[in-house]
Amino acid sequence: MKIEGSQFVLRPYRAGDEASLVRHANNRDIWRNLADMFPHPYTMESAKEWVQLNVNHPIAHFSLAITIDDEVVGGIGVTAKDDVYSKTAEVGYWLSEDHWGRGIATEALGLIVEHAFNEFGLARLEAGVFAWNPKSGGVLENNVFTLKPGSRTEFSRTVNSSTSCSTRASHSAMFFHRIERLCYDSRLDHSRMRGRRSSCLN
Ligand SMILES: CC(C)(COP(=O)(O)OP(=O)(O)OC[C@H]1O[C@@H](n2cnc3c(N)ncnc32)[C@H](O)[C@@H]1OP(=O)(O)O)[C@@H](O)C(=O)NCCC(=O)NCCS
Repeated sequence: MKIEGSQFVLRPYRAGDEASLVRHANNRDIWRNLADMFPHPYTMESAKEWVQLNVNHPIAHFSLAITIDDEVVGGIGVTAKDDVYSKTAEVGYWLSEDHWGRGIATEALGLIVEHAFNEFGLARLEAGVFAWNPKSGGVLENNVFTLKPGSRTEFSRTVNSSTSCSTRASHSAMFFHRIERLCYDSRLDHSRMRGRRSSCLN
């Protein structure tokens, strides 16, 4: 399958993508904004594992490469929840720093949202964003995701949300709260938080 954007194509990962994955994904400013399963440093071994997982076991998680001229420059995926949450899925995405600020993530998310609601029978998509990452909040707000009530870092969008511009303005007001929070949270060193988080789990 292939989904075409105005500046990129979304397609499944395949053997041969490893070198471009390493080139674009091995970036601390990408890693620090993603879930712990995204490795850092992002080595050739990491890339091989990711491509193998996608080639051999597709669809535990719907995941596509963001490509420009057939080179992988990012990734976007949807992971379905289970049990009574089976109509809900979480979206995640990253893009090479070489291409930031051109509207690519906004457009890619829009295409994936449409695909997920139309093809997977979902009722709700959600995304978790670290409080120090307002840019990703912007990508979500551009696609009419709203902050969960009482939450400053979790966005969601239901199947019937319209894409009217007026909703965006009201979300922006909430967004300032998150920027205030950002100053507070950014005093923490993320790498140490990760260590602390995993030691709590052990
Ligand atoms: C987040 C990321 C995907 C954005 O990709 P991108 O293609 O540069 O994003 P876009 O150009 O589509 O849009 C960014 C939006 O955020 C807005 N934005 C940027 N900085 C912002 C800030 N400090 N505060 C609020 N909004 C901001 C932009 O104005 C833009 O909205 P606009 O189109 O209405 O102007 C990319 O920076 C990335 O991969 N970051 C690391 C990984 C990551 O954060 N993934 C998401 C995890 S939840």
